[in-house]
Amino acid sequence: MHWVCTESDLRNHLGQWRSAGNTIALVPTMGNLHFGHLALVDAAKARADRIVVSIFVNPLQFGPGEDYARYPRTLQADREKLVNCGVDMLFSPPVEAMYPLGTEAATHIEVPGLSDILCGASRPGHFKGVATVVGKLFNLVQPHLAVFGEKDYQQLLVIRKMVMDLNFPVEIIGVPIIRETDGLALSSRNQYLSPQERKIAPHLYQSLCDTRSAIERGEQDYPRLARQQKAKLRQLGFDPDYFAILRAHDLTKPLAGERPLVILAAAKLGQTRLIDNLILS
Ligand code: PAF
Repeated sequence: MHWVCTESDLRNHLGQWRSAGNTIALVPTMGNLHFGHLALVDAAKARADRIVVSIFVNPLQFGPGEDYARYPRTLQADREKLVNCGVDMLFSPPVEAMYPLGTEAATHIEVPGLSDILCGASRPGHFKGVATVVGKLFNLVQPHLAVFGEKDYQQLLVIRKMVMDLNFPVEIIGVPIIRETDGLALSSRNQYLSPQERKIAPHLYQSLCDTRSAIERGEQDYPRLARQQKAKLRQLGFDPDYFAILRAHDLTKPLAGERPLVILAAAKLGQTRLIDNLILS
């Protein structure tokens, strides 16, 4: 596996692969790789000849007081995992190379509407940071396709919209959530949970499943369902941010009986912010 940190090294290898007629897939990550990320790599391998994984903890998508400084950085261990699963190139640029004039002075990509609700409402500027870094990575790598996890469902839709609006010639692949056996969605942030919080955490997924069952039984008052689930999460020790039942393709409000839907939730458990979702098709 090639490990490159500069734009020129990156372009050198990519140029050779392109000349050989290889298709290239990009898996953008912030590192601290777990089985969820490795499932993204597998999805990429099933669709492309060459796999590039980027690891970059992007300061632009963290707000003040968020976990940018303490976000787990485990580059050596990540590298070994990527070698073992047959990745062709790891791209891990330094922050100064991605934002030479600093994050404030950098040109940004804004995806209106979708970026301002749910996680975007509680984390202002977050999706601007995501869209900007993903746009930069697309320009650097120029992949034929790029793979993202459905756990960050809103992020996936923001990226799809950016690609459509700005005519990036990149196919976006979404990969279903990988869960622990008790239902907790895999996330690098799960390691922040105390043993007691870790026991409570799967209830977030349980609340999504309960909501799905209620809808399947014919419940159509979605705001009431969401209020009930938020109250239940509060009782269990969560500090819920949002619980929403929305149209799966654009996160707008559905009519009764409409499908596909997505049930999305975000809640803090102690200092850890967890997100999860479930699609109802
Ligand atoms: O999902 C993530 O890990 C990040 O938001 C991404 C897409 C790598 C952009 O920094």
